[in-house]
Amino acid sequence: LENGLARTPPMGWLAWERFRCNTDCTNDPENCISEKLFMNMADLMVSEGYLSAGYNIISLDDCWLSHNRSESGQLQADANRFPNGIKALADYVHSRGLFFGMYEDYGTLTCGGYPGILNHLETDAKTFADWGVDYVKLDGCYADPSEMDKGYPDFGSLLNQTGRPMVYSCSWPDYQIEKGIQPNYTFIGTVCNLWRNFDDIDDSWASVSSIIDYYGDNQDTLIPAAGPGHWNDPDMLIIGNFGLSYDQSRAQMSMWAILASPLFMSVDLRTIKPEMKAILQNKNIIEVNQDELGIQGRRIFKKSGVEIWVKPVQPSLGDNRSAALAFLNRRTDGTPTRVSIVLRDAGLTSTSGYKVQEMFDGLNLGIFHPDNTLTVVVNPSGVVMVKCTIQKKKSLVSKKKLVGK
Ligand code: DGJ
Repeated sequence: LENGLARTPPMGWLAWERFRCNTDCTNDPENCISEKLFMNMADLMVSEGYLSAGYNIISLDDCWLSHNRSESGQLQADANRFPNGIKALADYVHSRGLFFGMYEDYGTLTCGGYPGILNHLETDAKTFADWGVDYVKLDGCYADPSEMDKGYPDFGSLLNQTGRPMVYSCSWPDYQIEKGIQPNYTFIGTVCNLWRNFDDIDDSWASVSSIIDYYGDNQDTLIPAAGPGHWNDPDMLIIGNFGLSYDQSRAQMSMWAILASPLFMSVDLRTIKPEMKAILQNKNIIEVNQDELGIQGRRIFKKSGVEIWVKPVQPSLGDNRSAALAFLNRRTDGTPTRVSIVLRDAGLTSTSGYKVQEMFDGLNLGIFHPDNTLTVVVNPSGVVMVKCTIQKKKSLVSKKKLVGK
């Protein structure tokens, strides 16, 4: 969507994967969906360095609403859990220097059974603007997917007509694919800033793996759909929760960077372990994700549980680009695997050579030319991510090898 927003993949914090539809503030006051939770997270986004790292949106998900609209037909938050209302929460979030994200559903009800926007599109778009919303995630439960080709654009125009810039996140293709309808991504990209296409993520490596497979298997359809202002959304980062090991967490972060994916953490920022926080805040990996070219990466090799993914990034030299490479090991046979690639086979053909750096720890691996072989050692269900930065002038060969970790 060319509304000037989301020129690089949006980054923020989203409640759903970690906090779900927990409305029990009596027994679980610290974790229920309430203004307090969002205010706490907003504070930590700033004080713990997430905002400085680029995560600048904090967003509601399902289960914030009252079951009833107001007498004048407006949406309203659950009065016990959001006693000061949404405008006050948005003001608080803004006062912390963050953008405020809203969740609603195109249908008659949200997936959690709260009022949806159907038949109230104009009122609700206006309400969001009045509240100071900056980002809208529009879900698609309790709606007819065949009507979404009209409904999502209609609501998008109404958001636009409010005059308030709002990033528009759509679940439209996901619900269409579930019903066997092939989404028209060219059109969707003119209506939405980002969109979901696949299953909800949950707290497991199996779930992360299935998403990576979906993006690899459907890359010829998905890659052309992505670019500045319009992104495929493989769903939230679950790093720091219960389901991923350290290596798997690095793998999710790397793959989401390679996929030019929106980066929405869904994690308890009060209890996250320092090493998981460091993964989420890794500058090198975020830089790959936020690269200005906005090209979604491609799986170029898949065999015996090992995959190689490539994302072209800046800087460029003529038509030649630098690239980030992710070596992903899906094997679980316990021992790190040695993976090699000749740079040329990853599309890296510049005769001036590439400076190759390991991304997580910033290790310099030397200068490589197109016919040199790069070898890395990848832990089981882990990743090695490197950046090959194109050299401006011819460089001498000085390649070193990355030995096992
Ligand atoms: C389905 C969406 O895909 C999830 O991300 C989440 O928003 C839930 N609905 C909420 O009910």
